[in-house]
Amino acid sequence: MKYAGIRTAMLTLAALSVVIALAAPSPQYVGAEKCKMCHMSKAKGDAYGIWKASKHAAAFATLASPESQAIAKKMGIADAQKSAQCLQCHVTGHSAPPSAKAASYKLADGVGCETCHGAGSLYKEMKVMRALHAGTQDAKTVGYRKGDKRQCVSCHNPSSPTYKPFNVEEAYKKIAHPTPKG
Ligand code: HEC
Ligand code: HEC
Ligand code: HEC
Ligand code: HEC
Repeated sequence: MKYAGIRTAMLTLAALSVVIALAAPSPQYVGAEKCKMCHMSKAKGDAYGIWKASKHAAAFATLASPESQAIAKKMGIADAQKSAQCLQCHVTGHSAPPSAKAASYKLADGVGCETCHGAGSLYKEMKVMRALHAGTQDAKTVGYRKGDKRQCVSCHNPSSPTYKPFNVEEAYKKIAHPTPKG
C-alpha cells in the first residue's frame, strides 16, 4: 500500500514534468538587429559593429556574387540563395523549422549572433542577460550559448566548396568581440 502510494506520487510528478516541458516556450531566432541596441557601444565592446564589419554578416549576400553563381552552376544549383546546399552554412539556423523563426528573422543577416549564441527570443531581455552574465540563470532553458570555438568547424570544413585551411586561433582573432573589463 505504502509503496503503491509512493509510486502513484512519482508517476504524477513524472506526468507533471512532461506537461511543464511541453508548455515551456521554445526559443525563436530573432535576428541580429534585436541584439544591436545593447551591444553597439564602444564601452561594452561593440559586438554588433565588429560582427557587422565581418564576413559573417555578408554570408547571405555572398551567395549572389558572380563567384557563387559560377560554383552553383557547376553543381547544378539554380539559385545559391535558395539552396540548402549553400544556406546550411551561410545563414543562421537553416535547419530550424519555420516555427523557430520570429518575424524579425532575416536571411540577410547571414551568419548572425544567434548562430553561435543560440536563438535569442527568451534571453534577449535585460534581466535575463544580466542573470546569464552573473551566472544565476540556467542557459539551457532560455536557449543561450556562451560561444564556443569548437563550433567553427561545423562550417569551416572541407565540405565548403571554397574551403581554405582553417586555423581556429588565427580565425578567431579576426572575429573576436570581447567586452572590455571594468
Ligand atoms: C536589453 C539589452 C540587451 C539585448 C537586447 C541583448 N543583450 Fe546581450 N547582454 C546584455 C547585458 C546587460 C549583458 C551583460 C554583460 C554586460 O553588461 O556587458 C549581456 C551579455 C551578453 C553576452 C555575454 C554573457 C556573459 O556570459 O557575460 C552575450 C553572448 C550576449 N549578451 C549576446 C546577445 C545576443 C546574441 C543578443 C541578441 C539575440 C543580445 N545579447 C541581446 C544586454 C542585452
Ligand atoms: C554557420 C556556419 C559558420 C560558423 C558556425 C562559423 N562560420 Fe566563419 N564563416 C562562415 C561563412 C559562410 C563565411 C564566409 C562569408 C563570406 O565570405 O561571405 C565565414 C567567414 C569567416 C571568416 C572570414 C574568412 C576570410 O577569408 O576572411 C572568419 C575569420 C571566420 N569565418 C571565423 C569563424 C570563427 C572563428 C568561427 C567560430 C567561432 C566561425 N567562423 C564560425 C560560416 C560560419
Ligand atoms: C560546409 C559549409 C559550407 C557550405 C555547404 C557552403 N559554404 Fe560557402 N563558405 C563557407 C565558409 C566557412 C566560407 C569562408 C571560408 C572559406 O572559403 O573556406 C565560405 C565562403 C564562400 C565564398 C567566398 C569565398 C571567398 O574567397 O571569399 C563563396 C563565394 C561561397 N562560400 C559560396 C558558396 C556556395 C555557392 C555554396 C553552395 C553551393 C556554398 N558556399 C556552400 C562554408 C560553406
Ligand atoms: C561565429 C560565432 C559568433 C558570432 C557570429 C557572434 N559571436 Fe559573440 N562570441 C562568440 C565566442 C566564441 C565568444 C567567446 C566566448 C568565451 O569567452 O568563451 C563570444 C562572446 C561574446 C560576448 C561576451 C564577450 C566577453 O568578453 O565576455 C558577447 C557580449 C557577444 N559574444 C555578443 C555577440 C553579439 C551581440 C553578436 C552579434 C552582433 C555575436 N556575439 C556574434 C562567438 C560568436
